[in-house]
Amino acid sequence: MRYAIQAEGLVKRYGETRALDGVDLLVPQGRLLGVLGPNGAGKTTAVRILATLLRPDGGTASVGGFDVARQAHQVRSLIGLTGQYAGVDETLTGVENLVMIGRLLELSRADARARAAELLERFELTHAGGRAAKTYSGGMRRRLDLAASLVGRPQVLFLDEPTTGLDPRSRTELWSVVRDLMADGVTVLLTTQYLEEADQLADDIVVFDHGRVIASGTSDELKATTGAQVLEVRPLRPDHLDLVVQVVADVIAEVPTVTGGKAVASVRDPAVVPAIVRRLDDLGVVASELSLRKSSLDEVFLALTGHPAEDRQADAKEEVFA
Ligand SMILES: Nc1ncnc2c1ncn2[C@@H]1O[C@H](COP(=O)(O)OP(=O)(O)O)[C@@H](O)[C@H]1O
Ligand SMILES: [Mg+2]
Repeated sequence: MRYAIQAEGLVKRYGETRALDGVDLLVPQGRLLGVLGPNGAGKTTAVRILATLLRPDGGTASVGGFDVARQAHQVRSLIGLTGQYAGVDETLTGVENLVMIGRLLELSRADARARAAELLERFELTHAGGRAAKTYSGGMRRRLDLAASLVGRPQVLFLDEPTTGLDPRSRTELWSVVRDLMADGVTVLLTTQYLEEADQLADDIVVFDHGRVIASGTSDELKATTGAQVLEVRPLRPDHLDLVVQVVADVIAEVPTVTGGKAVASVRDPAVVPAIVRRLDDLGVVASELSLRKSSLDEVFLALTGHPAEDRQADAKEEVFA
């Protein structure tokens, strides 16, 4: 298999902080790798190294077979980057932004204009193409930024938290654009703090925490790592909740949490379900909901790290979104 992105043992230090502490990554051509991690985990640092914007203190990486340190020029000709710091010029119009990039990439004026029009159309920005980017909504800006990263038809695209700060509708729109790109065979490395986003888009996921990869695999594999499924039991009669909690606790030998009128517990052995059903039946308790589901990525993250995914704001520099 050919790998579009390969990294081995990447290290980056800022004083005492190890932004990256020996990171390995492998992305096969045409696949989307989701890099999932809380603020400050090292996602942007990894992207900046792979995009040749930052030199690692240790380790090696290649993109499209070119070494990011020694063959930065070749790497740059293959990649597109959409950063958290949006790359669009606020004072220029949508069209002007894209044409300018096309010209920087040495397209003829006519080709640059044609490419700009094509991209604006694709991102449903044609109507706004003549307006200054500063008048755009957050979702429109993010789409323009993504369009800008595609002017040079990159084979490998880095999307650094492309949907952070977007409303749910803009987020779903962006997801569909990313899916289109994947259908075109573009290799994508997408960073995100949203477990759902990685779940939706990524073929493979690596989980970053404190500059290290703490888990990797497909979404299903990650969900299976914790070995647990989640049992949820809701009694038809709310006043039966205590009984339900007692029965579940007896059967799984662990007290379930109570949330939204139901008992919720992590279980390893699905055979507990019939046992719970029998016990409830004996007690005359009717369940309006009784389900066993795979743990969510949120729950997986918690199980892997011992803290929720949103927990690590403290030492991360607050990033400003345009
Ligand atoms: N230029 C910098 N100077 C000092 N520390 C930095 C710099 N860039 C990043 N860091 C630190 O490195 C760590 C990883 O940051 P970053 O890669 O931006 O994480 P993420 O993108 O996952 O939020 C954080 O602790 C951050 O504060
Ligand atoms: Mg970041």
